[in-house]
Amino acid sequence: MIFIQDVFSMSMQNSSHNSEEIVTSPKEKIGGGIHKTGTGPEKSGPISERSGVPVLEVRDLCHRYPHLDSNALDKINFKVFKGERVAVLGANGAGKSTLFKHLNGILRPLSGEVLVKGEKITKKNVRICRETVGIVFQDPDDQVLAPSVEEDVAFGPINMGLSRSEVEMRVKEALEMVGLTGFEERAPHHLSGGQKKLVAIAGILAMRPEVIVLDEPTAGLDPLSSARVLELITKMNRELGITLLLSTHDVDVVPYFAERVFVLHHGRLEADGNPKQIFSDPELLRKAHLRLPRVAEIFEMLQQEGLDVNIQITAETARDEILRVLWFRNQKAGMK
Ligand SMILES: Nc1ncnc2c1ncn2[C@@H]1O[C@H](COP(=O)(O)OP(=O)(O)OP(=O)(O)O)[C@@H](O)[C@H]1O
Ligand SMILES: [Mg+2]
Repeated sequence: MIFIQDVFSMSMQNSSHNSEEIVTSPKEKIGGGIHKTGTGPEKSGPISERSGVPVLEVRDLCHRYPHLDSNALDKINFKVFKGERVAVLGANGAGKSTLFKHLNGILRPLSGEVLVKGEKITKKNVRICRETVGIVFQDPDDQVLAPSVEEDVAFGPINMGLSRSEVEMRVKEALEMVGLTGFEERAPHHLSGGQKKLVAIAGILAMRPEVIVLDEPTAGLDPLSSARVLELITKMNRELGITLLLSTHDVDVVPYFAERVFVLHHGRLEADGNPKQIFSDPELLRKAHLRLPRVAEIFEMLQQEGLDVNIQITAETARDEILRVLWFRNQKAGMK
């Protein structure tokens, strides 16, 4: 895999790649503790600076789809600061995709507002906002529309007015990043679902936005592609300070990826905390129809067996905790 620092060593041009409703046409290239709903987060992580102007801010956001009598989003409040890695968890229909579509003006709020770098998204500035916030949609068929993979990935950089050679370089690099070198001439409608998803991700990467919002990016991907995508976006975050929001049903990957977790349930932001805090709240998880990561489930079982272990959520901390317990046992046995 190529190194992100090489790919992104050139000047960061902010842009985005999108489709859907509100103001513009499809494919317009435009370029702490758990907080029970929307209070200010604690500082965490080496890159994110939870101070100053948030790169994204959502205030009292409500959304209602036509002909429905309840809100798909209900009074959502949060701030995301530059460099944060946020996982958005929630059951089917919780409102994750609806929320994401508000983050660069694809949907219009029923009430409340969304601010990008302190500026409320309006008809006038939506293009600029989309240069800052790039979204990878849940369904790649909403996003990958060009006749060939190469043309699709090039669409965004071309619309940004980049030179032909720059566009070619970005397309080549983005396809390398997602492991699709050699697919340039292929028709997207002849690709598998997972391959199309990777094309959609490449299209956003080629535009290099400041914030990347990924709606279930690993759904439908095989373990290697899934790990590659997570590794890639984590590197982009660590090395370039790109802010990431990612929705997923895969709670097992969350502790490896996220420093902050939002839990959505019936359109409400039920919690905002770090993974350890979120996964130590069984009541919250049950209410939101989520589960513990498998590693934590094993520790919960060990506790039920009477073992004096602390619940862990990653394989590495699990190993350390098991070694700690074994060490104490050996010490005790030695003293007898
Ligand atoms: N275009 C639409 N028209 C009407 N209702 C919609 C539309 N899109 C979504 N909804 C409804 O809004 C609610 C939130 O849907 P949303 O797609 O945001 O959920 P989600 O959390 O992304 O779910 P999933 O995990 O299944 O992707 C659901 O009740 C859904 O049925
Ligand atoms: Mg969704």
